[in-house]
Amino acid sequence: MIKTPTKLKISPKVDPTQEFIEIAYDFSNPLDLVREGISNAFDAGADEIEISFTVEKDCGESILKTIIKDNGHGMDLDGLQSFFDLGNSTRREDDEAIGEKGHGTKVYLNSSNIQVVTIHDGKKFTAIMDAPLRKLHNHETPDVEVTEEGTTERNGTTIIITGYNNNRRDKFTHSQLKDYILWFTKMGSCELLFKENKHENAILTLKGVDKKEAERIHFGHIFPNDSKKVEFLFEEFLAEAPKHYCKRIVKSGNLDNYPEIHYDAIFVVEGVKVKYGYNPMIRHSGYSAPSGAYTIQERYGLWVCKDFIPIQRKNEWITQKGSEYTRFHAFFNCQDFRLTANRSSVDNTPSEIMEDIRKAVVNIYEEIIQG
Ligand SMILES: Nc1ncnc2c1ncn2[C@@H]1O[C@H](COP(=O)(O)OP(=O)(O)OP(=O)(O)O)[C@@H](O)[C@H]1O
Ligand SMILES: [Mg+2]
Repeated sequence: MIKTPTKLKISPKVDPTQEFIEIAYDFSNPLDLVREGISNAFDAGADEIEISFTVEKDCGESILKTIIKDNGHGMDLDGLQSFFDLGNSTRREDDEAIGEKGHGTKVYLNSSNIQVVTIHDGKKFTAIMDAPLRKLHNHETPDVEVTEEGTTERNGTTIIITGYNNNRRDKFTHSQLKDYILWFTKMGSCELLFKENKHENAILTLKGVDKKEAERIHFGHIFPNDSKKVEFLFEEFLAEAPKHYCKRIVKSGNLDNYPEIHYDAIFVVEGVKVKYGYNPMIRHSGYSAPSGAYTIQERYGLWVCKDFIPIQRKNEWITQKGSEYTRFHAFFNCQDFRLTANRSSVDNTPSEIMEDIRKAVVNIYEEIIQG
């Protein structure tokens, strides 16, 4: 005899410790911590940011200490809660903000201690999470001890991370950090070219593990200026002339089939000598480049961007043969790109929109090639 079906219910649950670990490790490049810290500082309205990486000795052990400090609006207790929560973003409804997922600060969990000192309108909170990574691996959710006091200090947040990335510090040399900051964080945004001037005066003070003194870095990605006209370059450099050529093409527009979607693009056609002139991280013969240096093929070409921050290269959109793309230093920004959880790819973008974006890129490219 067939039994009447019984109704049951399952309420899906998540394993918090496992998910915290997944998200923390999903940021696969250790430098991502810098990008997330800078994005959060800008989202808090900061225009002064300090970042330092220092190695300290503790009972004979070398401990990496990272400090990220900003003069933004700071956090109240709810803000601090979302700082340590997963998927709890206070920025989700804010179109101007970079933050949207509530994932960024979880990159800090890959450490042995997180201390946050934040000042918001006369209140100062000091929050400490001890041994986050060890506790998570022991299936224990790490608690945060918070103390509150009154203060007359100005608003801002200081985050001190001890033992990040298992104290591995080869990536945190000054020149690698500076390069990363000017290419892959909000501090290196290309927005100034599109008359988006609100962060124009932002300053970041940086110190890598190999430096004693900090360096002040100004806002904005570095694009070289246009060179002389081609005929003058030929007179001066003969057959070498193309290596000295540089021309910027700045274009904004809307997609053909999604006319509400806007894009901003800059394509710089850049000869190799021009690149060597402003980018000390390019490896080439006769030059001893700092550690972490790269080749033109590894770095240049077309980058698609969100929040004016490069996310992913799409050289196949502009390359017909070989490494033709290396002539370009091109950024294409669209706020309708959908990013993966760790912000390393735009491939979550609906395919119809992606195809329209690709067409817009190809149009710009062909216009340049014809010119
Ligand atoms: N420097 C800071 N100043 C003020 N608030 C901050 C700062 N850093 C983090 N927060 C708070 O912590 C929350 C969580 O930060 P987190 O980076 O994890 O997520 P998000 O910025 O909202 O989104 P995303 O994952 O896209 O970065 C933020 O929404 C914000 O409220
Ligand atoms: Mg964030």
